[in-house]
Amino acid sequence: MRKTPKILITGGLGFIFSYVTEYFVNKGWAVVVLDNESSGSHPEIINGSFKYYKINVSSPEVIDLIIEENPEYIIHAAAISDVDFSIKYSYETMVDNILGNINIFEACKQIPNFKKLIYISTDEVYGECEHPKKETEIIFPKNPYSCSKATGSLMRLAYDNSFKELRDKTAETRFCNVFGHRQDRRKIMPAIKDSLNGEYSIPLHNKGKGYREYIYVKNIPPVIDLILEKGDRTYNVTLNDGYTVEEIIEIAEKVTGKKCSTHPSHREGMDSKYQMDGTRLKEELGWKPLYSFEEGLKEYLCQEKK
Ligand SMILES: NC(=O)c1ccc[n+]([C@@H]2O[C@H](COP(=O)([O-])OP(=O)(O)OC[C@H]3O[C@@H](n4cnc5c(N)ncnc54)[C@H](O)[C@@H]3O)[C@@H](O)[C@H]2O)c1
Repeated sequence: MRKTPKILITGGLGFIFSYVTEYFVNKGWAVVVLDNESSGSHPEIINGSFKYYKINVSSPEVIDLIIEENPEYIIHAAAISDVDFSIKYSYETMVDNILGNINIFEACKQIPNFKKLIYISTDEVYGECEHPKKETEIIFPKNPYSCSKATGSLMRLAYDNSFKELRDKTAETRFCNVFGHRQDRRKIMPAIKDSLNGEYSIPLHNKGKGYREYIYVKNIPPVIDLILEKGDRTYNVTLNDGYTVEEIIEIAEKVTGKKCSTHPSHREGMDSKYQMDGTRLKEELGWKPLYSFEEGLKEYLCQEKK
């Protein structure tokens, strides 16, 4: 009998899940990370406090590796996560993300100690949001990235329903836009921060009218912990702090007293609005965020350290 739970995190060196890796290490759990150190990864967090495999989750040997590790908990977050990249390299994105999803679900069928899997998805699976989307609404992904993520959302339902080894042992998160230190510089918040520091001109997609909801990254590890403990379905993760890019630039300028520079840019087929209903996570699981949007934004824009 193991004394401490073992959690395996795919993509555990990435922007968001490097925080989750550190959270479970600090909690005293045995942590295993699978990551291929592609874009967005932070190998500098590797310090011997968790077990690490440099591996692509789309490769078939990942199934045996996971079974051998025999974790109680799995968080599947590894994915090519950049929309522009996914439009330019759609084949690579589809193959890596979809095969990765298949391998993780297949592995879960055969892990002796398996207790729960959380599949990490995104608000983008809803496509254009003309109202705040609930978890029960149809998914309508409209770019290669969100389509590849939506395959995992569908697989979760299929595997949970079809295999007794997974039944009621899976959950899914759909985050709104997460921001914070360690985020890839191609994303909007780091672009704003670089621009405020005079280092960058922001490519303003579709006149800055794109509307997104935002959440600070340090809110995420406790959400994952809560869902591991109590969750068994899909949860939108949002506080409904929604802004257009134009507005978010204005807010950042106000918080810092500095100015951004921008230039016009066009993203083909971009959804103009992602907006989710976050009631389920709050009412069913009692989620309370650690940081408000304003607190997170101040910490991110005004402090250098993670
Ligand atoms: N950042 C957001 O705002 C946001 C919003 C909603 C959902 N998500 C989801 O959260 C997860 C993490 O996002 P992020 O922004 O931290 O991304 P990220 O790009 O910073 O991190 C992804 C990590 O996964 C690894 N990875 C990618 N493909 C892999 C593969 N085939 N095999 C092994 N490792 C691989 C990368 O090396 C990286 O360390 C993703 O699944 C993403 O779809 C992110």
